[in-house]
Amino acid sequence: MNKKAFYFAQLTDIHVGQSLNPIEAAANLKWALEELESLPLKPEVILATGDLVCAGKRSELQKYSDLVKGCSIPIYALPANHDLWGEPDDSAWLDIIGPLRQSLVINDVHFLIWNETQRDAKGGWIAELRQEQREWLESEMDMASEKPIIIAQHCPPLSMNGNYHDRWRNSNADELLELLSQHNTLAIVTGHWHRNSEWHANGIRVINTGALCGWQWNGTPPHNCFPLRPGYRLFHFDGHTLRTFWRDGSYWQTPAPVVQITLVKIGNAYTGGPRPQVRPIDVFTKARLAVSVRAVQAEVVRVEWSLVQKDWHSMERTFDGIWSEWQAEIDPAEFHSAGERTCIVRAEDAKGAKAYDAVPVRLAEYESAAMVPFVAQPGGEKTFELFYLPR
Ligand SMILES: [Fe+2]
Ligand SMILES: [Fe+2]
Repeated sequence: MNKKAFYFAQLTDIHVGQSLNPIEAAANLKWALEELESLPLKPEVILATGDLVCAGKRSELQKYSDLVKGCSIPIYALPANHDLWGEPDDSAWLDIIGPLRQSLVINDVHFLIWNETQRDAKGGWIAELRQEQREWLESEMDMASEKPIIIAQHCPPLSMNGNYHDRWRNSNADELLELLSQHNTLAIVTGHWHRNSEWHANGIRVINTGALCGWQWNGTPPHNCFPLRPGYRLFHFDGHTLRTFWRDGSYWQTPAPVVQITLVKIGNAYTGGPRPQVRPIDVFTKARLAVSVRAVQAEVVRVEWSLVQKDWHSMERTFDGIWSEWQAEIDPAEFHSAGERTCIVRAEDAKGAKAYDAVPVRLAEYESAAMVPFVAQPGGEKTFELFYLPR
């Protein structure tokens, strides 16, 4: 690892407290902290990007604080609606957790961790850049000068038909993105949707991370969420490239996987994992498969992909760190019949443990209408975030 390179981690939507899964949420947080502390190269910092608790009560914030006490990695947390709405003002957060926004510098990278989720006049919550936050961001970014900046906030901006999805709807995400684009912003790191994905908003990379509490919100009444593997995100920055990896956790009684593989991207489409929340991805020309692998107990010896089982193709390693990254090219012309298939990837470690991931693909001769994915920016980049209707 070069001298400038370092790891950091993100925990989001931890939701300690009484409403979702109180026992598992606390256990997931404990698991994540223990795993992060035992990594061969310890992350420099943990970003906790909001929804630390459920009901925003002082007692819940105290419970969260007790759970993270003693962690040897510094944790920088920002507040979101679930953290604040149980109290009349911000004093419980300020007393127990810390400031509403913070900055830090690691190896010349500036981290700005800020509170974009605001009380609105009608008693609800909105994501908004207010004057006070704008002045703080401007002065911090001026101090950063040309150095890379990582923004941590709760709600992700996803532009949609001239507006923005969810909490940034009818707000001023454009103003925020314009401000960030005037500086060397590496990425905006977010949570809130309990899903993993990535896209660009006004040219700025947005990395959205799933919930550590292990619940997926899908907005389909009457069941607003269902359980899935919890996890956290690791980041690696080498002075040029910011890489990220979602680590799957323990699923209720099932331990975290010793080998984990994720098919992250097919061509310009992010797959919207963690599974099984994926939709078919159209592959109508040669496309790159991008895969991440983490093996806990032994070296990774093999990573392969297949559209037709028994016909496995090896992949090429492009990054080797706490996790590894692999690529291959898929060419629909090599498969003589178009239609829906399953793109499977698998990894094997030196002890013979295997892991699989699979994403449905539709081989086509031209780009057909997408079923659900939203085109995140011109150029064909797609994201699979619009899983519920905008309010
Ligand atoms: Fe949440
Ligand atoms: Fe949230």
